[in-house]
Amino acid sequence: MTQEVRVFNINPEPIGIFSLPKEKHLEFKQYIQSILIEAPDKLRQKFNKEPYTHHICNASNQNLFNYFPELNELKSYLQKILVSYINLIGYECDQFIIHSAWLNDSGKDSTLGFHMHSNSFLSANYYVNFDPENHSLLDFRNDRCDRKMTAGHQTIVIPDSNKLTIYNSLLVKLPANEGQVLVWRSHMNHGYNVPNKIGKRITLSLNAIPKVVDNGRYSFTIQE
Ligand SMILES: [Fe+2]
Repeated sequence: MTQEVRVFNINPEPIGIFSLPKEKHLEFKQYIQSILIEAPDKLRQKFNKEPYTHHICNASNQNLFNYFPELNELKSYLQKILVSYINLIGYECDQFIIHSAWLNDSGKDSTLGFHMHSNSFLSANYYVNFDPENHSLLDFRNDRCDRKMTAGHQTIVIPDSNKLTIYNSLLVKLPANEGQVLVWRSHMNHGYNVPNKIGKRITLSLNAIPKVVDNGRYSFTIQE
């Protein structure tokens, strides 16, 4: 081919990675480890599809931050991270309501089925106890090449070549370390198939919505 060829990337998906100050992370980690030991049974969940994972406050009427005031400072850090993320990607919003937050304590061999969070605008995952050598990173499903399995997209499917690109990679994982917070738009499909090599992969997940939702014509404000 003699002509110059250029391929442009459009419609990128923004995934934020934020780092908490180290000393603050260690403080929050201690609180969370105590909560995992001391939380009452009514706040604990175990799901059939995740036999090696325990959750705290992963029920629709529970929010971790409502039960454990020792995490108020962490909540405030996370709210600032959400505002920073949405401003960075070009939107105006100065307050988020974290309407769901829960803990995930995953054992050896645990995986996480792919899913997305409805009734939420932004989601985030705080790596509380995480060893990248032995714990699995979260994968994001590339919805630009996932049309073999997703209803609603008519397409022609041809074989992938051996060359892995951002266009044909079905799963995308970002390097992350303990003390970091991943933020994404809640419709993004995420999970991981690689089993954890060891237990105690501890994360905090959350869902959040802007306090003021305004499209310039219709709006509403959420009172906490
Ligand atoms: Fe999730």
